This record gives sequence, structure tokens and C-alpha cells, in this order.
Amino acid sequence: MNILMIASEVAPYVKVGGLGDVVGALPKAIEKLGHDVRVICPLYGSIVKDENWNSFKSPFNIYFGGKNLKAKIWESTLPNSNVKVYFIEYNVLYAYKEVYSGPWGAHENNDRRFIFLCRSGIELSKLINWQPDVIHCHDWPTAPTSLMLKTSYLNEPKGNCATVLTIHSIQHQGSFHAGILDYAGVVSESIFDTGHLETNDQLNFLKCGLIYSTKITTVSPNYAREIQTPEYGYTLDKTLISRSSDLVGILNGIDREEWNPQIDIYIPKNYSSDNLKGKYGCKAHLQKSFGLKEKPDILLFGVVARLYEQKGIDLLADIIPRMMEQMIVQLVILGNGDTELEKKVEMLANRYSDRLGFQTGFHNSLAHLVYAGSDSFIMPSRFEPCGLSQMYAMNYGTPPVARATGGLIDTIDQYVEGSEKGTGFLFDLPTQDALYYTLGWACSTYYDRPAEFLNLQLNGMKKDFSWDVSAKLYEQVYKSAIEAERVRILLDT
Ligand code: ADP
Ligand code: GLC
Repeated sequence: MNILMIASEVAPYVKVGGLGDVVGALPKAIEKLGHDVRVICPLYGSIVKDENWNSFKSPFNIYFGGKNLKAKIWESTLPNSNVKVYFIEYNVLYAYKEVYSGPWGAHENNDRRFIFLCRSGIELSKLINWQPDVIHCHDWPTAPTSLMLKTSYLNEPKGNCATVLTIHSIQHQGSFHAGILDYAGVVSESIFDTGHLETNDQLNFLKCGLIYSTKITTVSPNYAREIQTPEYGYTLDKTLISRSSDLVGILNGIDREEWNPQIDIYIPKNYSSDNLKGKYGCKAHLQKSFGLKEKPDILLFGVVARLYEQKGIDLLADIIPRMMEQMIVQLVILGNGDTELEKKVEMLANRYSDRLGFQTGFHNSLAHLVYAGSDSFIMPSRFEPCGLSQMYAMNYGTPPVARATGGLIDTIDQYVEGSEKGTGFLFDLPTQDALYYTLGWACSTYYDRPAEFLNLQLNGMKKDFSWDVSAKLYEQVYKSAIEAERVRILLDT
């Protein structure tokens, strides 16, 4: 099959969170199954081209907003693969370094930036002389692709292309003025007035994809169930229920070429489940990097997260004084996001500077060190569609303390005291107390039952989170999407 992924992030070139990791790794796993997978993404101001990139001589013509615009396409590949990545250079829309929002808030032209991306994905085949059998879109930025195919391209062969939409998070839906559809070449009155694409009088990008995509996936089986409830569905639960026969939850995997303590190039010492000595070297290095005392025996908790409500870091911040006063622990936090939360964590880090280290900003190599050097990883998410961080932590021998929600339930095995079972510590309610007592549980296990703590570490390191199984499930979804479009065409004629 020929599969085109249209995405707003692709690691290692551009990554805001796990979506970038997935688009950087899944195509490689699907390619290994014998398919031709390609990715298209904007060339943001932050992306640095290298000498292996080639550009297409002919301009990339895009009809957009009633005008013929000329962009340029650059071609590169995903590391260690033949997966081609096409970057659209169009500085009028993509010069910003930040993908979605800057310090001033969301970019005011995000609607045009991402509709342009959808349209570029659809039009790309002409320039590169390659026709996808399936177009795979990710989250709200590229969700409108299927709406465009089924309206403005309806009478062209392209209009019959199968589409798959993956929901990485239902919280962000992309609501914009419906006039943006004119830019996309879709007659807004006819679509908008049907009354099913808008939320609060705004066009909802994600909903466009939920209604028009041939198949829908999300990133864990448990989250697939959760988003069909009002509690987790962010108003789209009923829409999802209406598409439930086309919706499937497929667990994310991790890229073992980048996230593997045996070969990780970002950590000072490599190690494996046969010998954890290198992990203790990483711990000392991590303590030093965050200005903490280099003590081998103290329990060191780690956090790497976007600092937003979703991740529950506010719950953690609220119990830090209790933790610092009543537990013998150190804590390192790497994260950026909400300014108030950043300030609060900064203030706490100043107050408990001997045991709490905080670094803001986005630092990939430091993130690797936190997963490797911490003894336990904290992830108190209010919701978590899949979560990659807990999988990285487990594979690095760092049992997570996590809220039992979404993909965290699907990936973490609860520790059973007195047994050899488990890979981490799960708690049910998103409350300060639940988090506090579960951190206490991790503490007592670390200090009082070290052999059982070691079992948790080794069990997590041996868990297979590779993409192999999930890539086969995506392959099935692609096949069923192609078949569904074939049947639809037969019925229409
Ligand atoms: P989400 O996509 O919701 O942020 P995931 O757990 O799926 O959550 O993925 C988060 C990804 O982003 C991981 O690769 C994590 O290491 C990375 N990450 C998050 N915050 C930072 C940061 N401040 N610096 C470096 N990497 C980060
Ligand atoms: C989203 C989710 C996260 C998931 C990631 C990749 O950002 O918040 O849980 O792992 O996408 O699918």
C-alpha cells in the first residue's frame, strides 16, 4: 500500500509532544511491513535543513483562498529508514519557530496554516508523481483533509482515497470561523448549515475529521472507550458513539532506536536489565545536572511533562511541601507550558533547593537523562490518551507512579505487594491525597522492600513496547479503510 501521513509534527525534526514521536516512528514500522509510507509536514522556522535534503525544482502550486500560491517542497527521510518526509516551505504561514502557539498565545492564523497543510497533502501527488491509497491524518490540524476530499475533490479520483484519522487527544479540537472553508475550496454554506460540524458557532476541525474520515483510531484501547463518555469526550462523545464501528484504539509504541538504555547516545552510561550499574552512573549525573546532592541511596523521583492541567502537575506541586517535609526523597522536574504553573514550581524549587530541581524549556537530551537517572517517574495525568513517557520510564528501569487512566492503564501493570508482579504504582482518583499516598507507597517499597522494587524495574525493562504489534493493527485499519471506500463507490454507482 501507499500511505501518506499528513502531520503537524514529525520527530526528530519537530516535536511538541508525543504526536511528534509517533509520526517519527510509526511510518518506519509500517515500512518494515513492506509498504511505501511518506510524511508531509510544514517547514517551520525551527527546522534546520541538512546537506542530505533535496528540493523539487518545480514550484508546488496550491490554489488557496482564491489565489494560486507557490510553495516549495523539500525532501528528506526519517533517520534509519527510507521513509520520505516532505517539508512544505511557505514562509508566509510557517516562518514561526513555534508549531501552534508562541509566548503571546495561539498563532492567529492557525486555521489557514493547517488548512494549507491539508490541501498540500492532497495536492502533493501531482508534484511527486506518487498516489496514496490511504491518507492518514493526525489530530485537529489535519483532520479537515477528509472533509475536503469528500467535498471539493468529490468528482476527482482523489476524492475516493481512503482516509484514517488518529486522535491523539480529544481535548484540542481546533475551533475557527467557518469562513476558513472558503480557503479550502469548500463551499461553507452548504457544509456548515447542515448543523453538524460546528461547536458554539465555530467550525470544529476535529469534528470534520470524525464525520468524514473512513476510519478513526485513537492511541490506546482504553482511551477509545473513555472518549465515548461525556466525562472524557469533550462534547464529541456522541459523535464518536455514532462512529463507534469505525473507531479502534491502537496502543502507541516507542522507537527503540532512540529510546533504549543500551544504546542511548544522550546518557553518560549505557545499561541493560542484565546489569543496572550504568543506571546509577546516570543517577549521579542527573543529580549534578539539577544541582542536587549526589547521593546514591536517596529515592529520586523524576518528571518530564508539558506543564498543563492534563498532566496533573498542579496536583504534584500542591503536595511538594508535604513530600519534602515527610519523605526522604529528591525530585527533578523538566517541563514547560503554563506560566503560572512554571512560576509555582520555580518558587518551590527555590524553597527546597537541596532536594527539588526544576528546569524549564524543551530539552530532548535532558529528558533522556531524567528517564535513565531517576528511580521512579511521576505521571499524575487527569487524562492520558496513551502516554509515551511512562513507557520510556519503564524501559529505562524507572517504575512510574501514575494515575489509572487512558493508556496508562493499558501499559502499566499494578504492583502487587509481596509478589514479583507489576511494573509501577497506579492510583485511581486525580486528587492530591491519592497521589501523595501512592508516592509514599513507592517510597516504602524502595526503602523497605528493595528486592520487590528491583523486580518492578526489571519487569518494566523487559516489557516490549516496540511498534511491531501496533504497526500490524494499523495495517489492518488501512486495508479495511480501502475496502470500505471500494464498497461505498460500488454502492454509489
Ligand atoms: P504528550 O504528548 O501528551 O505530551 P507523551 O507522554 O505522549 O505526552 O509524550 C511526551 C513526549 O514529549 C515525550 O517524548 C517526552 O519525553 C517529551 N517531552 C515533554 N516535555 C518535554 C520537555 N520539557 N523537554 C523534552 N522533552 C519533553
Ligand atoms: C497526545 C497525548 C498522549 C499521547 C500522544 C501521542 O499528546 O496526550 O497521551 O501519547 O498524543 O499519541
